[in-house]
Amino acid sequence: MQKIIAANWKMCKLRQEAGKTAEELCGALAAEPLSGRRVVIFPSFTNIPDVLAASAGISSVSVGAQNFYPAEEGAFTGEISLAMLRDIGVTQVLAGHSERRHLFGETDEFVARKTAFALERGFSVMLCIGETLAEREAGELVNVLSRQTALPLANLPADSISRLTVAYEPVWAIGTGKVAGPAEVFEAHAAVRSLVSRILGDDGGRAVPILYGGSVKPDNAAALLELDNVDGLLVGGASLNIQTFLQIIRA
Ligand code: PGA
Repeated sequence: MQKIIAANWKMCKLRQEAGKTAEELCGALAAEPLSGRRVVIFPSFTNIPDVLAASAGISSVSVGAQNFYPAEEGAFTGEISLAMLRDIGVTQVLAGHSERRHLFGETDEFVARKTAFALERGFSVMLCIGETLAEREAGELVNVLSRQTALPLANLPADSISRLTVAYEPVWAIGTGKVAGPAEVFEAHAAVRSLVSRILGDDGGRAVPILYGGSVKPDNAAALLELDNVDGLLVGGASLNIQTFLQIIRA
């Protein structure tokens, strides 16, 4: 399976800087075609057109949106629809990122609704899951991962499974500099693989890429990518700088 290296730029970078970062990144990747790596960039909404323009024609790079609202259109002030994203050339989205869950109150039910809504409309979805430190310390890891996968993955149309990616991101490792250790990542990814396979069947479960996210840096990327069931990385802070992100891509 190709490794997916995804950049979540969150609410960072103004247009010019985002376009320039994407141009330099894509320039480097075009000069050095990657075998076995696929890069996805999730910029903020206003930066998407510039990042799309910079990555046009580079087949190893694609662009997604960090958020959307699960309705066709209507009175949802401040929200973005999938049709609006498709209109500017975007057909992949994040759902369930821990910042959406914890800062903006997105529930498991809402994340499930968003995941199904986007998959049913032909989008690719990167579904983020992960436990808080309190949940881990209470021995709730598998229960949390089970709860966070069961609802979104229930009753998915078979033809949408190839567009689903799961990102395991322990909340305590996001933006904190604390990366989960190899044993913790190995255990969590094995649990996610078995939970996903239980819902989607063995073939379906095997086909879903599972990414790790949370304080990924150039010096831990290679070891993470070597672990069983780690099919890629979702990178926040370290993806903002071209050199560190390139090192992670090449890890
Ligand atoms: P981080 O963020 O790499 O800065 O920890 C990861 C994420 O939020 O996806």
